[in-house]
Parts: sequence; C-alpha cells; structure tokens
Amino acid sequence: MNKPATIDFATAIETSAPAGPAHTQALLDLVPGEARDSLLAIHEVLRRELPQGRLATYEAGGGSSSFLPMDVLNRSHVTVVDIDEDQVRNNTYAQEAILGDVQTYRFEPNGFDVVICYNVIEHLPDVQAALLNFRDALKPGGMILIGAPNPRSLSGVVTKYSPHWFHVWFYRHIRGIKTAGLPGEAPFPTFFHPLVTLSKLETFAAANGLETIYRREVESPRYPEMRERKPLLSALVDAGAAVMNAVLPRGTDVRRGDYHIILRKRLEP
Ligand SMILES: C[S@@+](CC[C@H](N)C(=O)[O-])C[C@H]1O[C@@H](n2cnc3c(N)ncnc32)[C@H](O)[C@@H]1O
Repeated sequence: MNKPATIDFATAIETSAPAGPAHTQALLDLVPGEARDSLLAIHEVLRRELPQGRLATYEAGGGSSSFLPMDVLNRSHVTVVDIDEDQVRNNTYAQEAILGDVQTYRFEPNGFDVVICYNVIEHLPDVQAALLNFRDALKPGGMILIGAPNPRSLSGVVTKYSPHWFHVWFYRHIRGIKTAGLPGEAPFPTFFHPLVTLSKLETFAAANGLETIYRREVESPRYPEMRERKPLLSALVDAGAAVMNAVLPRGTDVRRGDYHIILRKRLEP
C-alpha cells in the first residue's frame, strides 16, 4: 500500500534557542539524559557525513514519529515501511508510506542515502534479513542508523524475559501513557533476536560490508523519566542497579539500557 503523506510541520517545534536547529516531536519528548545527548551527537554526524542536497531516506519501522534531525527530514524524500496499519495511517512526515515487513520488503538496490531503524530490531524474528535488505537498499557510502535496547542491561533483561502484558502495564502505570497497548500504540511485542546484542550486530555488520562509524551505549531514558515521575520506585531501582554494578565486572553499567549505532555501506562490496 502506498500512501502519500506530508512532513508534519505542526510537530516541528523550535527549541528555546531560536538560532538552534528545530527538533522533531520524538526528540522533544525525550527526557534530558544520555540517550538525548547521543542523538544530538548523531545529528551532527549525519549533517557532516550525508551528501548535500536532496536525500532519499528510508524509515524502517518508522511508525508515526522520527528521530532524524529536522533539517535532514526537510530535504528528504522519506519512505516509511511499517507492518502496523495504524502506524502507517498515523504517519504524517513521509512522502511514501508502505504497509510492509522490513524483513521481506525489498527496494531497488542502491537507492537510499540513509536508513533509520529506531526501536524496531528488537521486534524482529529475522534481524539478519532486515539488515541485509537495508544494506542492499543503500547507495555505496550510505548509512544505517539503528537505535535499540541493550539485552545485556537491567531494562533489557526485564523487557526480554517479561510478558507483553507487563510491558503494557509498565507503559500505562509507570510511564503514564494511558493509550499504551491500544491498536497502533506502543509497546509492540518484542522478540530479541541474538543480533540485537550490540557486539553481535557489529560483527555481523562488519562481515557484510558495513563499517561502524558511531556507537554508544546510553542510560535508558526510562531512568530519568522514572526519577521525575516515580521518585521512590526510581530510588529502589537505582539502588538495585548500583548493587549489580558493584558485583559485576568493572566498567559494567546495567543502566545502559539502549544503544545507538551508525553503520556505513562500504564503497567496495
Ligand atoms: C517501538 S515502535 C518504533 C517506531 C519509531 N521508529 C519510533 O522510534 O518512534 C516499533 C515499530 O516497528 C514496527 N514494526 C515491528 N515489526 C515490524 C516489521 N516486521 N516490519 C515493519 N515494521 C515493524 C511497529 O509496527 C512499530 O511501528
């Protein structure tokens, strides 16, 4: 299904610094913290590394919001592929919205400058197929931005091993999102294929013509969110995390619940 859509200027709100870049609603909704800092660093990488002029941008599992910089979105022809009909219908920023599965949907090769797949790979039973599709769809030198939960973190382990109803409960009662779990609304069922683990993802990428140009593990935004909304629960979770960090190998921080990685398609296969 192809559905024309327009960039949602209604959600493009200026930041408090008038001269600074505008951000999408998804970024504005993100609480200040490591995840937001990393995304702002990624925006700089994309501004520096992407070609000037019009861009062909593929939002894989794009849903209805984007974490790309507004200036990149504004000069992009955005194609979104999402498996959820409501998400496709709610998308307002893509020029082309396709109801499809990123694991099987194939574009003509070498067509896109950038693929963004944010908070999606944890939902896929076949991450390998999706990654190879993204690589093939990219122009040589093009980039894939992936954001995903870290399965080797406290929130990653809890998400991976708890049932879907618990995720809905958490979103509704801890995060305060009353529409959680309704059709077309997060949370979506998770699968946690082994390649969601960052080290495995990087190894697979390197073996398949993709070099890492940015990687960062970040504290899950759920922690600062919880500190604001549920200070008592948050203090308990923080104390539990501190105990785990003390007994685990030096340098481990179980709070690093998410990661960001940018992969670049090699010029030579
Ligand atoms: C947590 S949402 C993230 C949406 C958006 N990328 C964001 O960061 O706001 C996950 C999205 O992945 C989509 N999704 C899950 N499995 C998919 C698949 N196999 N193919 C395409 N989209 C998929 C869901 O429908 C949902 O829109």
